[in-house]
Amino acid sequence: MEQTKKVMLSGIQPSGDLHLGNYLGAIKNWAERAEEFDCYYFMADMHTITVRQDPAALRRRTLEQLAQYIACGLDPERNTLFIQSHIPAHAELGWVLNCYTMFGELSRMTQFKDKSAKHKDNINGGLFTYPALMAADILLYQPDYVPVGEDQKQHCELTRDIAIRFNHIYGDVFKVPEPYIPKAGARVMGLTAPESKMSKSIPEGCVFLMEKPEDIQRKFKRAITDSDTENCVRFDPASKPGVANLMNIYAAVTGKSFAEIEAEFAGQGYGKFKPAVGEAVIETLRPIREEAQKILADKAYLESVYKAGAEKAAYVANKTLRKVYKKVGFVPAR
Ligand code: TYM
Repeated sequence: MEQTKKVMLSGIQPSGDLHLGNYLGAIKNWAERAEEFDCYYFMADMHTITVRQDPAALRRRTLEQLAQYIACGLDPERNTLFIQSHIPAHAELGWVLNCYTMFGELSRMTQFKDKSAKHKDNINGGLFTYPALMAADILLYQPDYVPVGEDQKQHCELTRDIAIRFNHIYGDVFKVPEPYIPKAGARVMGLTAPESKMSKSIPEGCVFLMEKPEDIQRKFKRAITDSDTENCVRFDPASKPGVANLMNIYAAVTGKSFAEIEAEFAGQGYGKFKPAVGEAVIETLRPIREEAQKILADKAYLESVYKAGAEKAAYVANKTLRKVYKKVGFVPAR
């Protein structure tokens, strides 16, 4: 008898264009595991409105993101690709889990602290309770692993705590999932400010998946290395964070170890190293960009993908939701 596969699930907010951090921290890992796991990947559109969005841009980016998921190697035949807002069970379980998540826990979330500092005029309830919705996104599908970058580890840990708390009261309802974080690329830092993570909010230091090769190369050539005069490619994150970040990126795209990279650039200095990293990234992203452009042109295909994805996702999600409703004492509708 065929053994049932383990389940993987993850999502990305279509609040900006996908960038190298999203790719190396998350998507690359998803695509590499498609054969081994039963996979669910979604566009987390409901999460984006915790910060004001332009509606037309959100719609456009959601579809672009789907095209880019497929172009990154996520075959819709093997992976369930869907749009979060198409599955009402996310909001429904999100509400239930809100009632099992503590104010103190939510107050400690780094993403909440960062975003509320950035958007002082809009510290809304959704921004605060975001992790309960994220826990619902995850727990609905009973995954074994949640492949994310380092910055989402805290939310994944809270999801585990919520699942354990719920199971403790009602019996085994949720599988308690584990975050799955890559060795290289878990935390890609900005090219212009290596002390903070690469993010779309600092576009000069951020490499987007759809960016033209010449723009990518320009960003790498201008990347901050370090302030000492050593001009030597050596992995030392404390005193050379910019170089360590470039080495991390190079390691993630080439599969080389830090020792191999140091040997490759011994005696060559940053003048050779930075464009070499740029070139390796360009060659990694080139086929993705070309493929994504083709897929995006076929709107009917994209629609067929997200509709089929929603159908498969809803089936699994509703099963979990029904179980939860029953456990907490809601009268079944049918
Ligand atoms: P989001 O949309 O900010 O980021 C999506 C994924 O990209 C990773 N990532 C990075 N990895 C390495 N270096 C970086 N500079 C970098 N920037 C982003 C993130 O760790 C993440 O894996 N709350 C989530 C979205 C979400 C989700 C979920 C994820 C909603 N529901 C359920 C997993 C499961 C978020 O804001 O990620």
